[in-house]
Amino acid sequence: MQSIHDPLEFYGVDYVEFYVSNARQAAHFYRSTLGLAPIAYAGLETGVRDRASYVLQRRNVRFVLTAPLTPDHPIAAHVARHGDGVKDIALRVCDAAAAYEAALARGARGVLAPTVAEDAAGRVRKASIATYGDTVHSFIERDGYEGPFLPGYRAITERPPVPETGIAAIDHIVGNVEAGGMERWVGFYRDVLGFKQLVHFDDQDIATDYSALMSKVMQNGSGKIKFPINEPAEGRKKSQIAEFLEYYGGPGVQHIALATGDICATVDALRAAGIPFISVPAAYYDDLEQRVGAIDESRQALQERGILVDRDEEGYLLQIFSQPMQDRPTLFIELIQRKGSRGFGKGNFRALFEAIEREQARRGNL
Ligand code: FE2
Repeated sequence: MQSIHDPLEFYGVDYVEFYVSNARQAAHFYRSTLGLAPIAYAGLETGVRDRASYVLQRRNVRFVLTAPLTPDHPIAAHVARHGDGVKDIALRVCDAAAAYEAALARGARGVLAPTVAEDAAGRVRKASIATYGDTVHSFIERDGYEGPFLPGYRAITERPPVPETGIAAIDHIVGNVEAGGMERWVGFYRDVLGFKQLVHFDDQDIATDYSALMSKVMQNGSGKIKFPINEPAEGRKKSQIAEFLEYYGGPGVQHIALATGDICATVDALRAAGIPFISVPAAYYDDLEQRVGAIDESRQALQERGILVDRDEEGYLLQIFSQPMQDRPTLFIELIQRKGSRGFGKGNFRALFEAIEREQARRGNL
């Protein structure tokens, strides 16, 4: 046993930063649909010349929406290639420089060497390494920083209305990686970041007639951070992972699962805000009780909303998947309520993929 502190011990996801074409409008969308409150801003008015960033937060969920202000900016090239999507899954650490050095020593590719940002509220150190595709992990060392987000950001004081959605935390963030890349990325999270593989199910479990994928779940030491990884597998038709890779222009974040304590209320709030969800066939609910046993929720309440249920030895979970959050069929949102289960809805994969494929067929991509 090592007694010294592991520099790659992570205290949680500090924030998720999206690169988008229009941060003002994306911030409006994520505020009014997910109920995330705008708390900080950086842009021309704060002396940032090349980009605009809005920070939205609700309890333990913090999203940053960043757009380029000039046509030849690297963020503009990122958006041109990938569309709107997740650029950075930032992780809170104790010492950003030590985390960065340790990650590089274990084989990571550096993207941003340790950098100090400072203002009247204190200082924050940040460093970044590459993960799948053009996605990065920043290491954030807050060191008691008292500002609204990071140095250079101004607090948003005049806050527009924010709907109550019940969203409370990020449960997991899923990456789609290139065909044949699974072992590489499982190895990256295991060997570089010290994560462990949580569960495994092979493509037999989740193959449908038309699609197949491999999925493995990587989790940090505390179990707080969960990053499932999907890889496309051979199917009779184009898999939804392959569709993502085509439209995203390579590997990237497929979905962010947000935890709620009352999924029915959360789904109602998001529906009222105009978020469409993947439709679930009525037949899914026919054998619900036989499949998952007794649950607290009425079958009717779940069926009306299209909420899926899965059970394992520890309990059950309720989950639902949104349609893509942007024009390209790339990033979507999952809502999840855990009632003992620490799984990811393995038993729902078949139902989910069959549902997703119906949507894919509607887009002419099956
Ligand atoms: Fe998920």
